[in-house]
Amino acid sequence: MNTIKELFNIEYPVIQGGMIWASGWKLASAVSNAGGLGLIGAGSMYPDVLREHIQKCKKATNNPFGVNIPMLYPNLSEIIEIIIEEEVKIVFTSAGNPKKYTSFLKENGITVVHVVSSLKFALKAQSAGVDAVVAEGFEAGGHNGRDETTTLTLIPIVKEELKIPLIAAGGIATGAAMYAVMALGADGVQVGSRFVASNEASSHIDFKQMVVDAKEGDTQLTLKELAPVRLLKNKFYQEVTELYAKDPSIDDLKALLGRARAKRGMFEGDLHDGELEIGQVSGLIHDIKPAKVIIEDMIKEFKITQNRMKQVSL
Ligand SMILES: Cc1cc2nc3c(=O)[nH]c(=O)nc-3n(C[C@H](O)[C@H](O)[C@H](O)COP(=O)(O)O)c2cc1C
Repeated sequence: MNTIKELFNIEYPVIQGGMIWASGWKLASAVSNAGGLGLIGAGSMYPDVLREHIQKCKKATNNPFGVNIPMLYPNLSEIIEIIIEEEVKIVFTSAGNPKKYTSFLKENGITVVHVVSSLKFALKAQSAGVDAVVAEGFEAGGHNGRDETTTLTLIPIVKEELKIPLIAAGGIATGAAMYAVMALGADGVQVGSRFVASNEASSHIDFKQMVVDAKEGDTQLTLKELAPVRLLKNKFYQEVTELYAKDPSIDDLKALLGRARAKRGMFEGDLHDGELEIGQVSGLIHDIKPAKVIIEDMIKEFKITQNRMKQVSL
């Protein structure tokens, strides 16, 4: 029995995290067709673009899929309206207060999951009435919490108190890592960085290749005063570091970040001046492959690990 498989009616408890400039309908539908749960990342889409992606995703898969809404982005109410009109059945919210929309979404028959980076926010999400929580460790790609709690620590701490299903995220790109977090109490996994290096991700090919080339130590969590985000250490990151040496104000940081940095880096492939979001686990990603193969390999490796662990004696 697996509560995450049952909650979403999917074959494997593997969720592809919503990712700006990476997870459009092509990636989400490929993951859902392969037995996982694909999520369209609404964070980088204008409302009409999101509607188009939902409609294309419905045509590309008969399996369940969902939409991720980072609540720090504009057009929230318009996006929620589209989700309801298009009869999307699963929503993952992140980066904001789950109280704001959870009951409204649930009244409309939607399964709601909220992404958190601490026990405190996991319990807040549970009180807001979500169906499950994604607990995301500090090693994860994209925006993250300020407390720097790693997945290895966060999952068992959240598990101790949470009563609803728990999905682990951050640093999971292999079946062995999936096995490890499930041993710590997770019911399923949310995977981000590994799916950036997939054929179906909408990210620029040069960014995908940079993810494949990345080594351990090539990412850093930064911009904590704005919205903490883990970035590849490119020229833009170096400029951020140089600015920090000058004790900048929040406005200085905002001015350096400017507008559309993430699009420039991850979607348009400006590897020097763009913002390149990826997790620490990029050091373990060595190839670009179809989403279906990513899932098949994870499941295969999970089972190999399960058997291997039976032989381990202490
Ligand atoms: C390029 C990129 C963009 C992301 N964008 C979002 C987003 O829009 N919303 C969100 O909730 N999480 C976002 N994330 C986080 C992922 O959904 C996922 O939780 C995280 O990547 C898991 O950690 P991992 O990268 O170690 O697998 C993003 C991650 C990456 C790598």
